Amino acid sequence: MTPMADKKIIAVMGATGAQGGGLVRAILDDPAGGFAARAITRDVNSEKAKALARAGAEVVAADVDDAGSLERAFAGAYGAFCVTFYWDHFSPEKELAHAAAMVQAAKRARLQHVIWATLEDTRQWVPLSDNRMPTLMGKYKVPHFDAKGEANHLFTDAGLPVTLLQTSFYWDNFIYFGMGPKKGPDGKVTLTLPMGDKKLPGIAAEDIGRCAYGIFQKRSQFVGKTVGIAGGHLTGAEMAAAFSKALGTEVVYQAVPFDVYRGFGFPGADDLGNMFQFKHDFNDMYCAARDLDFSRSLNPRLQTFEQWLGANAGKIAIG
Ligand SMILES: NC(=O)c1ccc[n+]([C@@H]2O[C@H](COP(=O)([O-])OP(=O)(O)OC[C@H]3O[C@@H](n4cnc5c(N)ncnc54)[C@H](OP(=O)(O)O)[C@@H]3O)[C@@H](O)[C@H]2O)c1
Repeated sequence: MTPMADKKIIAVMGATGAQGGGLVRAILDDPAGGFAARAITRDVNSEKAKALARAGAEVVAADVDDAGSLERAFAGAYGAFCVTFYWDHFSPEKELAHAAAMVQAAKRARLQHVIWATLEDTRQWVPLSDNRMPTLMGKYKVPHFDAKGEANHLFTDAGLPVTLLQTSFYWDNFIYFGMGPKKGPDGKVTLTLPMGDKKLPGIAAEDIGRCAYGIFQKRSQFVGKTVGIAGGHLTGAEMAAAFSKALGTEVVYQAVPFDVYRGFGFPGADDLGNMFQFKHDFNDMYCAARDLDFSRSLNPRLQTFEQWLGANAGKIAIG
């Protein structure tokens, strides 16, 4: 076992959340692995923060909007896991500013390895002039993807030893993001997604951090690289069949047109409608960028959709 003082400290943004939380737990689950988790939170007294401290993480206060606090939180660390919080503010500009702040803090701390949890800048495939989908907020196609992809160069231009980690749709969205199966007036339970017959790469949110841990363990293979991860590539029909089995009630896949989904009216529906269209229209590229065997090589415990459903079916309330 590595003595505590010799451990490489990973400063984890979003440690009380989905991605960062998975990484903190992965580090703590492997006490002989040579890494220590520094969980960054705005509130060290929250229940989630206290649970991480009890589990053995160092819990440190910082706010990504406060550059000084971030620099203090990264100081003395070996590496950092950097993630932004789009759905807290719906602002691509804020994501870019937050990425820039993390880059600055990482440079100051002279970190040896940084993981930036990113997504594609879809404008490289769908320029603003392409009218297959509306341009949103004046200069984006998929705002919550594009700003992350645009921020990649902030990390690379700064000369940081960075791995760009392209994440996938969390299956947990079926529990917490209102995307799960719903009962219609006719009593039929449907899974509604605008994915046609294409495959949606997905992952248990917890596994993102676990894959990130694998990347930190194999630093030399991954510095300067872009990698993508997923736990499964499933069509809507395949997911509906798995839901039917796990929930014990028939779930039917309803493939709605992109425009219908964009018009659903909930906050971010247009952004997500464009996102699904991007994944649909560039399906081969998007799936190939998230290889399943590769993801499992980073995280041998990687869950399949069926395994994830088996562990979580009880949390899925059919609305
Ligand atoms: N949902 C999906 O399918 C999906 C897929 C791929 C990528 N993503 C991306 O994942 C990102 C969010 O990651 P997540 O799901 O892991 O987040 P999350 O579960 O919502 O947790 C985010 C954590 O970040 C912390 N936080 C929020 N604002 C902060 C600030 N100003 N300074 C410091 N910490 C702050 C909060 O912790 P405290 O309250 O303790 O400070 C919170 O627990 C989004 O940008 C989203 O686009 C989502």
